[in-house]
Amino acid sequence: MVKVPAQFHIGPVLIAPATVLAPMAGVTDTVFRRLIRQQGGCGLLMTEFTSSHGVVATQKARKPTRTFRYLAFEPEEHPITAQLFGADPKVMAEAARVCQDLGFDAVDINFGCPVNKVVKCNGGSGCLRDLPLVRRILTEVRKAITIPLTMKFRAGWNDKELVYLEMGRLAEECGLQAIALHPRTREQGYAGRADWSRIAALKAATKTIPVIGNGDILTPEDACRMVAETGCDAVMIGRAAASNPWIFRQIQEYVTTGSYFRPTERDRYDMMRKYYDMMSDQAAPDTVGKMKQFATYFTHGVRNGSKLRTIIYQSQTVSEILEKVDAFFQGELVAA
Ligand SMILES: Cc1cc2nc3c(=O)[nH]c(=O)nc-3n(C[C@H](O)[C@H](O)[C@H](O)COP(=O)(O)O)c2cc1C
Repeated sequence: MVKVPAQFHIGPVLIAPATVLAPMAGVTDTVFRRLIRQQGGCGLLMTEFTSSHGVVATQKARKPTRTFRYLAFEPEEHPITAQLFGADPKVMAEAARVCQDLGFDAVDINFGCPVNKVVKCNGGSGCLRDLPLVRRILTEVRKAITIPLTMKFRAGWNDKELVYLEMGRLAEECGLQAIALHPRTREQGYAGRADWSRIAALKAATKTIPVIGNGDILTPEDACRMVAETGCDAVMIGRAAASNPWIFRQIQEYVTTGSYFRPTERDRYDMMRKYYDMMSDQAAPDTVGKMKQFATYFTHGVRNGSKLRTIIYQSQTVSEILEKVDAFFQGELVAA
């Protein structure tokens, strides 16, 4: 069996095992990242994408803002990468310097975000239609920091404008330390399948830096299959980690023993309770909203999960949610 590698390097930073939590806006905040890290098996964490303009403005204002919260992390999160988006090379460079000063292990640039708000300002996947701009951004940011620089990108704007091989070449020429490809196009959104043959082509064309494969990994078997089919140096997992925070642990177990942990109802309860406790300790704004959002992810696979989701959606306060989750699972566990 071809396995997910035990490790890889992003410049001098050792990532072990070779697994990465994909950046997900609204999901991979410090609480969720720590939850993932505590399960074991995840080599690298990444922040949600963060506006370079927001970072620079926050720095100048010297007061806490939402952007500042995006970049907050705890020591146990190392190694961790800060992901930035933007299209102004000077602003991107300044924001990258701030991330370095905050203690991040690496900076990643987002060239994949399909959201209109970002693309309209030329950021995210908008840059895939302006490769000279990509080169200027990479060059300025590389000059501005000494920690590793990586980028994450989609395959192109659409199937007629595929640029992922050119993007890989630019990354090598501009001195980046790793690249991650989500092989869907901007126009594709999340429709259809992620075409892993594009990851294989990028890996074959990239000689000096690691290639991280991303897209549609749902199980440990998928993770190993992506490595077998593409030769990628590491795998990155997004959506599956939100509904199954054990996936990295499962991959590690699968590659060492051939089988892996399957969560029971009790495990699902404990995970949900732990996340909710960590959220309420955080005292962040809109804790109730976040708890409702995560109810959607965490109730996947829970027996009578839709009933639990409804109960949580109808609750108004943190303590009401905690009480109702406890009561629900007590009923379910007794009935089991
Ligand atoms: C809710 C959500 C938010 C996302 N936010 C980001 C982001 O901030 N930066 C980024 O590079 N990609 C973002 N992505 C894309 C993921 O990182 C990943 O490339 C994509 O989901 C494909 O991987 P998957 O099939 O493992 O989910 C986001 C995806 C989702 C579902």
